[in-house]
Amino acid sequence: MPRLVGLDLGTTSCKAVAIDEAGRLLASASREYELLTPRPGWTEQDPADWWSAALDCLSHLGERPDAVGLTGQMHGSVFLDDTGSVIRPALLWNDQRTAAEAADFEQRVGRERLMRITRNPALTGFQAPKALWLKQHEPNNFSRLATLLLPKDYIRFRLCGERITDTSDASGTSLFDVVQRRFCPELAEAVGLGLGQLPGCVEGFEPAGRVSSEVLPGWAGVPIAGGGGDQAAGAVGTGAVTPDVVSVSLGTSGVVFSAQNDSAYDPEGRVHTFCHANGSWHSMSVMLSCGGALRWARDTFGFAGYDEMAALAAERDQTESVFLPYLAGERAPHNDPNLRGAFRGLSLTDGRAEIAGAVFDGVTFGLCDGLDILTEIRGGHRPDALRVTGGGAASDYWMQLLADATGCVTVRIEADEGPAFGAALLAGVCAGVWPSVGQAAAEAVRVGREFRPGPEQDAVRERRIRWLTQVREHVRRGTTGA
Ligand code: XUL
Repeated sequence: MPRLVGLDLGTTSCKAVAIDEAGRLLASASREYELLTPRPGWTEQDPADWWSAALDCLSHLGERPDAVGLTGQMHGSVFLDDTGSVIRPALLWNDQRTAAEAADFEQRVGRERLMRITRNPALTGFQAPKALWLKQHEPNNFSRLATLLLPKDYIRFRLCGERITDTSDASGTSLFDVVQRRFCPELAEAVGLGLGQLPGCVEGFEPAGRVSSEVLPGWAGVPIAGGGGDQAAGAVGTGAVTPDVVSVSLGTSGVVFSAQNDSAYDPEGRVHTFCHANGSWHSMSVMLSCGGALRWARDTFGFAGYDEMAALAAERDQTESVFLPYLAGERAPHNDPNLRGAFRGLSLTDGRAEIAGAVFDGVTFGLCDGLDILTEIRGGHRPDALRVTGGGAASDYWMQLLADATGCVTVRIEADEGPAFGAALLAGVCAGVWPSVGQAAAEAVRVGREFRPGPEQDAVRERRIRWLTQVREHVRRGTTGA
């Protein structure tokens, strides 16, 4: 029986799973590590902490597997010198210190040209602005830079000594030609780097190293698949590997993810278009505060839990109040790190139920905005169903609200193990268990309960129209200062 391991290097913790060819969970382990915030807006982690957590998780899984797949937080920068030592703590995907460098990089390359090559604008979290920041603010460290790695690829480096990434994770660097699926010398040069300082690149299901006997003697020689960024690997684990299957992740952030057969993108840069881990492409909308906004409301207003919020929301009275979920700025569709959240239209008759309802609506309508843009990129083709993962998928209320708001059937995934599961499927393709990522998903991903759009649809649609009016007004005021 094949034994396939997936390792997900998340932002707060690392998780490893072992599964069989039917997608059944055989073992799992997780370890947390510290997030460093040396200044407001800065987020860093020590790659040594990642490595000890990852090694601990893998050791805990026991038995030698047939292959290992790696996934993890995207966009972060690990700076290595020519001895392979880490030069300084890694800068993470949500680090906001590089606004000036992102603008500078876009100006050097030209926004339109950058969009044509990378399919995305240069966001603060991406690697190119981070490399420019290092050059500008820590020139001694920049001069020692021999290799710039992504977070999960540092784990590969420690497992086998190879400096390799995969096309989906490389897509989030701003240094990668997403159409040609290779690093772009012109973009590297624009930040003062040579291609030799960037890793080699493979597809997510291709081999990229073998476990060294020095780190895990019992696993020596086990092949390591290219793997994928956490969103691409997570989508593999939901079966979102063909344009027919669109997935939604209801975590701290909220992501709508759509696989595509070409690299079509939004010229306004409201959503990301990246290489997918199955050899094709995908677009995704990322909203920064989704489950995170619910958590904030739960803690701030003293709700007992999400179940209480959902029960209250279901019983709310009709109200004008709306919640705009931009508590930490927003990516899709506004792309504005300075945007902020708001309640609007509150009145004396509004109580806890109306507040809870407004928050559920706000985050759900934010996801609808993302789905609308993806539908444009898909030539107007709206999916029939959405496969929903993440903590929020456990809520019947939220699953039904999402179905009513989007007009799509919402479907749960059984064995919702997140990106680590998708990474294990990529490992399976690498080991020859399945001939393709599509086949792996077809055989190992099982769907659970579905929720059909119901009688509330019209009422929900009306609430969204009211919400959109308030969003427009809020964004206009926010950006003009009027
Ligand atoms: C994707 C993104 C997040 C991070 C952290 O663009 O920023 O998914 O990878 O999880």
